Amino acid sequence: MTGRIDVLTIFPGYLAPLELSLVGKARAAGLLTVDVHDLRTWASDRHRTVDDTPFGGGAGMVMRPDVWGLALDEVLSTGADVSQTVLIPTPAGEPFTQALAEELALLVCAGGQLALACGRYEGIDARVGEHYARAGEVNVREVSIGDYVLNGGEVAALVIIEAVARLMPGVIGNPDSLVEESHGSAGLLEYPVYTKPPSWRGQDVPEVLLSGDHGRIGRWRRRRAVDRTAQRRPDLIEALGPAQVRPARALDAEALAEVAARTFPLACPPSVTPTDAAAFVAENLSAEQFRRYLRDRRRHVLVAELAGAVVGYTLLVVGAPENERVRAAAPDAGAELSKCYVLEDFHGQGLAALLLTETLALAARSGLTALWLGVNRANERAQRFYGKHGFERVGERTFTVGTRTEHDYVMAHTLRSA
Ligand code: ADE
Repeated sequence: MTGRIDVLTIFPGYLAPLELSLVGKARAAGLLTVDVHDLRTWASDRHRTVDDTPFGGGAGMVMRPDVWGLALDEVLSTGADVSQTVLIPTPAGEPFTQALAEELALLVCAGGQLALACGRYEGIDARVGEHYARAGEVNVREVSIGDYVLNGGEVAALVIIEAVARLMPGVIGNPDSLVEESHGSAGLLEYPVYTKPPSWRGQDVPEVLLSGDHGRIGRWRRRRAVDRTAQRRPDLIEALGPAQVRPARALDAEALAEVAARTFPLACPPSVTPTDAAAFVAENLSAEQFRRYLRDRRRHVLVAELAGAVVGYTLLVVGAPENERVRAAAPDAGAELSKCYVLEDFHGQGLAALLLTETLALAARSGLTALWLGVNRANERAQRFYGKHGFERVGERTFTVGTRTEHDYVMAHTLRSA
């Protein structure tokens, strides 16, 4: 059984696009009933008046409750025995979301009735919504499609109907296309998409998408979706909840290499050129190197994972310091905290602290009593971070990045015995 959508408006012509495209086809195929009603039909005077001046003064006109009451009574009487929702589009409403679109699609699919009451001018007399809500038989929602003001509810009604109708069975030819889109259940924006030709105006489609390796493609898309969401909608990232810290697996090698390539240069002082940083990354932090590290029992890699994408990592290298100056400065250190990095877009969420805490716990569990690390002398932010987590400056060392010899502080941390 399919339900119905009714739209009440003083501009029925505004809703003409509902005859087009997928919604139009669904209506023609009988998958969906949409009726548009002219509110003025229920006006009682010669001029078919639907509005009047606001009580309390102020600019503009307000839509009369008596006209709306007659209109809604009649339109709702057609579905009196089914579940009914009256939606009032208004910039003062609750945000219209994909979750609400899904809820409304379920209502209509189950044979319910959705009535959209499109206000104009300064809006509809507030008693209208309250009246239908109070009776308890009709669910009344005031919804906004965004933080901007339109001239009336008609465009919002079009938006809402399209968002709802496309979720109904048979409206979209290939339902798979609903699965991975933005604002779906993963809470992420959609990854970027590409089609032919593979090379256009000097820009190539990312190589991974031509690889045929669906595991790699899936991981790459997750990564892009998470990055995009962090850049454009940090509020959605926050809503995902905390990242998970876990030991890295062999399949993480490419993701780790990407995180390393994006984070390592940012920790370098200006004296290290991008070429030098890239040379270091290519030599020490490639996917191939990470695969090797992940097979090496003396190296522990932890990752911070958010919505299925690696956003940070630590690398702990077990063994006494090889460098003599370091050994003299941190004689008890049984391992080096070689890396602790979080992608820039995910800073400020306590991820580095979470990773470091888990890495220190892992070190303690492994029976280590002290760790050391090298941090560039110019990187005061990192020094403060490590200081806050129990590392103390104990010496200095030199460190080679590409063609540069850099000066590091050596910091050490004594672990509480387990
Ligand atoms: N009517 C006017 N502006 C609107 C908006 N942003 N959302 C819903 N209805 C509206």
